[in-house]
Amino acid sequence: MSKFLVGVTGASGTIYASRLLYHLKRLNHSTSLVMTETAKQVAAYEGFSDLSNFADETLSINDFFSSVASGNGNFQGMAILPCSMGTLGKLASGIADNLLVRAADVCLKEKRSLVLVPREMPLHAIHLENMLKLSKIGACIIPATPHFYAFPKTIEDLVDSVVSKVLTHLGVPNDIVPVWGDSHVKKDS
Ligand SMILES: Cc1cc2nc3c(=O)[nH]c(=O)nc-3n(C[C@H](O)[C@H](O)[C@H](O)COP(=O)(O)O)c2cc1C
Repeated sequence: MSKFLVGVTGASGTIYASRLLYHLKRLNHSTSLVMTETAKQVAAYEGFSDLSNFADETLSINDFFSSVASGNGNFQGMAILPCSMGTLGKLASGIADNLLVRAADVCLKEKRSLVLVPREMPLHAIHLENMLKLSKIGACIIPATPHFYAFPKTIEDLVDSVVSKVLTHLGVPNDIVPVWGDSHVKKDS
């Protein structure tokens, strides 16, 4: 069992975080949740009144005494999903003024897995430059862009096509999306 930190920001798409927490639990991993203040508002607006139900523990966004704020903290990696452009910008600039950004900064300096799922459209040059900067120092950028070639039937199926990739890049093997080639059936046009 590994411990993962799940950061949630005020971008649209709380369902990505809820599905990641669900799958990490299903796969017997432990989770710590940290949400920005705006994330709580957007989550409630999108129908997730209490995301903490899905996590093993919830950390306070202002608690810099939390173990995850330290390079000695005991967690395997972190995903921020959905990741707002605001948080992306802070992280790219080294502004660690809340626990979520500080823990992500720790991942970067300690060379631990950090997966970002940015959500915005369209993207302007600063957004793109911030993603490039973070990619260059080890963050894995997985945009919130589901795929359709597994013929999703539900919103959860669509969301899981992104979450599966997040898990893989956190180092968590998973069975969510069939291996391409094993199950691929070419559809008649
Ligand atoms: C309903 C709603 C949806 C939003 N969606 C996005 C989004 O998809 N991407 C984004 O970058 N910001 C989005 N925002 C704006 C962010 O919440 C805002 O920039 C906030 O300062 C982000 O703060 P945080 O990164 O600390 O959570 C949204 C705001 C609201 C109220």
